[in-house]
Amino acid sequence: MKKIALENRTHTCGELRSQQKDNQVVLCGWVDSRRDHGSLIFINMRDIYGITQIVFDPAENEKTYASARELKPEYVIKVTGKVRHRPDGMVNPEMATGEIEVIAQEYSILNRAETTPFPIIDNVDASEELRFRYRYLDLRRPELQKNMIVRHKTSQIVRQYLTGQDFLEIETPYLMRSTPEGARDYLVPSRMQKGKFYALPQSPQTYKQILMIAGYDRYFQIVKCFRDEDLRAERQPEFTQIDIEMSFVSEQDVFNIAEGLMKQIFKDLLDLELKTPFPVLSYDDALNTYGSDKPDLRFGMKIKDVSKIVAESEFKVFSTTVKNSGIIAGLNLKGKADYSRKQIDGLNNFVLQLGGKGVLFAKVRTDGWDSSIKKFLTEKMMNEINHIMESEPGDLLILIAGDRKKTMELLGSLRSKLGKDENLIGENEFRPCWVTEFPLLEYDEEQDRYIAMHHPFTSPNEGNTELFESDPGAIKARAYDLVLNGYEVAGGSIRNHNYETQMKVFDLLKINAEEAKEKFGFLLDGLKYGAPPHGGIAFGYDRLVMILAGENSIRNVIAFPKTTSALSLMDNSPAEVDAKQLEELGISISDFRIRNGRNNTFLRNER
Ligand code: AMO
Repeated sequence: MKKIALENRTHTCGELRSQQKDNQVVLCGWVDSRRDHGSLIFINMRDIYGITQIVFDPAENEKTYASARELKPEYVIKVTGKVRHRPDGMVNPEMATGEIEVIAQEYSILNRAETTPFPIIDNVDASEELRFRYRYLDLRRPELQKNMIVRHKTSQIVRQYLTGQDFLEIETPYLMRSTPEGARDYLVPSRMQKGKFYALPQSPQTYKQILMIAGYDRYFQIVKCFRDEDLRAERQPEFTQIDIEMSFVSEQDVFNIAEGLMKQIFKDLLDLELKTPFPVLSYDDALNTYGSDKPDLRFGMKIKDVSKIVAESEFKVFSTTVKNSGIIAGLNLKGKADYSRKQIDGLNNFVLQLGGKGVLFAKVRTDGWDSSIKKFLTEKMMNEINHIMESEPGDLLILIAGDRKKTMELLGSLRSKLGKDENLIGENEFRPCWVTEFPLLEYDEEQDRYIAMHHPFTSPNEGNTELFESDPGAIKARAYDLVLNGYEVAGGSIRNHNYETQMKVFDLLKINAEEAKEKFGFLLDGLKYGAPPHGGIAFGYDRLVMILAGENSIRNVIAFPKTTSALSLMDNSPAEVDAKQLEELGISISDFRIRNGRNNTFLRNER
């Protein structure tokens, strides 16, 4: 496509090469740095496209040269000059424009800048709080600009790929009815219908199912979702999904589309061939082998269960654990028998902090184990453990005893930590996998009832109907997660398209017919009017972009993120509102404090 020329500049700061030698050019951008070198002044001029070196030489223009000393970082300037090849030995191969420089004839200052609170450079040494407060300066830094470009390109590939597979992009409302999806809703009060509230969507789940009932066959949307939940590095209160729904599909159909999409993204953005089909692990296998339903497959160190071997040992901890239906399992940290006391204590403390009771260690030597538990175990037991854990002299065995679920989780966390600390993870490695056969339900102790592990619209496995009465906890779901490098990047399921099955699931969730009708009447009614079998998936777009951009927090790939306490530090939201606004909404705030001097404005939590 022919680009439309601009009035005020001929090129961007990332564009000039030696082909443009002797061209007369006009550039606009920011002063990145100034270096005074005796008789010459050099300015690195920056925009989102790159950096160009500008040279001020008294021989070219005495006046321009003399005034260039006033240029400071972040001044916005317009420079007119001529492109020339850099002198021999001055070419900078690290810079895209490193072959050339522009010899300035004249310039103008379009705007001045105060000294910025932190320098506009990559790997800046500034707190996240300061960066968020001055997000416009933070976003000016090349590494964040690169992330925004990756984000933009990803969405273009998604749109192109899914359009090519006959998907329609359809928008769904942001003001909707509250539907449960596990997190708390963000509520929006209605002025027209006082006392009533919209909820911002936790996801467009019900709408996309309605679109299938309406016959749209293949839907997608790159869509904002809102969840009032505890935040971490990979969670935000508002985040974006690539939301997908398809009619007449099996799990495999959804996998094929999702894998095709991932393949395309990795090829186009990183020039990497992802191998398909992605490996598939059951939820149970993922937990038992990696101690996590988000296994990081970039390194081995699988968990090994040695319960059977030590069940009869003289070591009370082992024998009672097995008697109480617990397990003894462990990891083999290859070649680390030289771990110091301090390093071992460090691992022990890590486990204690996660609520574990402690860790047992064995250093494998050529003449046997060096371990505090050696005296309780027979030679045969140690040999069998060595065999199952594939240990060799020089290895460090790490064992934990306890309740199965907790022990696996602790070993999973320890495995992730060791993977990072011991550099077991190769750079630029991407190992996706599917996790399937999730339980349909999980027991919520607090509410003393089952809740949906994925969401209430997920279909139970066919053939599990007899378990509805006898053992609901054992029912498996037709749900799946896509996991990449230890992150859950997508999740989805085949849905209940049949009214009776959906009501049975509500029944298990202790949602009675009346409540179901009140909350999801529209969807339940829809199921009665020829709903096709359907299923889908939603990608966490921010998480995917984070991985593609090589970042470790989604906050670095979102233009205007919130802090972990859900604050926006740049515009200071959330904020109190005028009493008049509350009055119009028919809202009065209880437990308020009247702020000094503004006696009609209320603040819930004074920060
Ligand atoms: P789920 O709740 O698993 O499924 O969400 C899908 C994906 O969205 C991402 N994600 C988040 N990303 C950032 N911040 C958050 N707070 C956050 N919460 C979730 C994750 C997750 O895998 N409607 C269903 C999808 C379906 O069944 O089709 C849903 O929303 O990467």
